[in-house]
Order: sequence, then C-alpha cells, then structure tokens
Amino acid sequence: MINMKVSVAGVEFKNPVIAASGTFGFGKEFASLYDLSVLGGISLKGLTVERREGNAPPRIAETPSGMLNSVGLQNPGAEYFVRHDLPELRKYDTKLIANINGNTAEDYCRVAEIMSAADVDMLELNISCPNVKCGGMAFGVKPESVLAITKTVKPYCRKPLIVKLSPNVADITENARAAEEGGADAIALINTVSGMAVDAYSMRPVLANVKGGLSGPAVKPIALRMVYDCHNAVRIPIIGMGGITSGTDVAEFMLCGASAVQVGAANIMNPMAMPEIISRLANYLTETGIDDINSLVGALKV
Ligand code: SIN
Repeated sequence: MINMKVSVAGVEFKNPVIAASGTFGFGKEFASLYDLSVLGGISLKGLTVERREGNAPPRIAETPSGMLNSVGLQNPGAEYFVRHDLPELRKYDTKLIANINGNTAEDYCRVAEIMSAADVDMLELNISCPNVKCGGMAFGVKPESVLAITKTVKPYCRKPLIVKLSPNVADITENARAAEEGGADAIALINTVSGMAVDAYSMRPVLANVKGGLSGPAVKPIALRMVYDCHNAVRIPIIGMGGITSGTDVAEFMLCGASAVQVGAANIMNPMAMPEIISRLANYLTETGIDDINSLVGALKV
C-alpha cells in the first residue's frame, strides 16, 4: 500500500494535490466531469467582503507555455458564498481552503472572521494578487508589510492560516520568514508572475488591464527555485505551485521542499488535469518504489 496522505499545519489531505484558487471557481463546473472527492483539496476562488465584478475583458490570454490573467478577484462576496455555494461543495470528501482578499487590512480581517465561522478547513491569505489597484500584492511585496498584515489578520483566524506569497519580489525568502514570524501556519508559493502580452497588429496590449499574472509551465523553473529557497529558510510547511501538469511535476515540487501542491493553469487547459495528475503521481511512486509520499519532501539530492 502506498501512502499518499500528507498533513499541512495539522490538516490531513488524502493526497497532496489541491486545486489552486482562481482556476477552479467553487468546483461546480468540474463536478459535472468527475467526483471532486478524488482531490486532496480545493483552494476556493478568492473572496472579498463585497461582491466584485472583476476587471474588464479581455482578461485571459494564452502565451507560450502559459497564460496571463487579470481577472481582478471577481467573486460573489464571502457571506453569499457561505450561504449559496458552500453547502453543495461540502458534500465532497475533500479539504476546502478559503482564499481571503481585501482592499484594506480591515477587509482581510472581516473575511477571515466570516470564513473562520464557516465550514472550511484552512484559510489562505492572498497578499499576492497582481491584478487589483488596492490591496492584493501591495501587502505582499515588502517583508515589513507581510509581517504586519499576517500579524493583524492572524487573531481573526480560527483555522490554520496559509500565507500566499508573490514571486514579484527581490528575495522571497525574506517574505517567507516575515509570514512565519507573523504567525502563518504554512506558506503557499508562487502566485503569478507579473507580465503582459502585446498584439503587434492592433498595437495594443492583449489584456484590457494591460498587465496580468503569468502562470503555467513557463513559470515552473522559477517556482521550483523559490520553493527550494523557502524550504531552506522557514520551518513551517510549504504548498508549492507554478506550472504543474503531471505526476512527476508534483514529485519535483515535493523534492524541493513542498509538503503539498496546488494545480492552477492546467485546470484551464484540461479540465481532467487533476485526476490525471493524481493517478500519474501514484504510478510514479509505484515505479520508484516509494511507499510513503512524505519521504519526498525536501529529499532533493544536491
Ligand atoms: C485574480 O482574480 O485576479 C487572480 C487572483 C490572484 O492572482 O491572486
């Protein structure tokens, strides 16, 4: 028997593969294609206090080996989500992570309070969204502000707190340490890499918002390097993400120090990506004779 279970900050996942926030909505569309209970977990679409329409379209663009998004945190509001979407989602045997957002520290605290009272398993403080004018990445660039926002929000969290870090910084390990010092129970990285696409014929940016966040296989080497660096910098667990499309990609992130992973852009390219990745991960463990997936964590031979 191969053990695929992992534990992150005391929360047990049946396998390390979690849907990344913003690429899986609240699961409804995927639930018509496969049983969501096969997933380790789902990080829900980012929630704010108020309903948001997000940025003007076009707000998604395909790029070589990746995609850009400038969605801008479209969501129905945290309380609406809890009343209308959460009960259906909770029927599946998978862990739920609420991704919390805001314009101000007070907003983040309020969403943390609402989602702490709801039936979710963990909270993910999103201080790395590059697509909003207020809040988002502005809280996640400097280590001092990562420390301050984590410390401010933590007392409102009655579930383990993950801090989701931005790669658009000078040294991500400083921000990882700041999150740990502020009380994070885990960190998640990387959110998207700030980028843009241009149409040479219209001579315009492809995205209405001009800039967006790059994800997909194009960013995987950056993400692996950052997970590896953070694993050597903090003691709290790491959830790794950035361009995962296969079972061996999951293993690579775990070897670099991730205890679990999130899959994002792959869900948009192929809606069956996550069940396929999970079954290929099991094949990889069989082929390599590994009976406990946890033995991969940080086991990179350097
Ligand atoms: C978005 O809704 O703009 C994406 C969320 C994120 O990058 O954190």
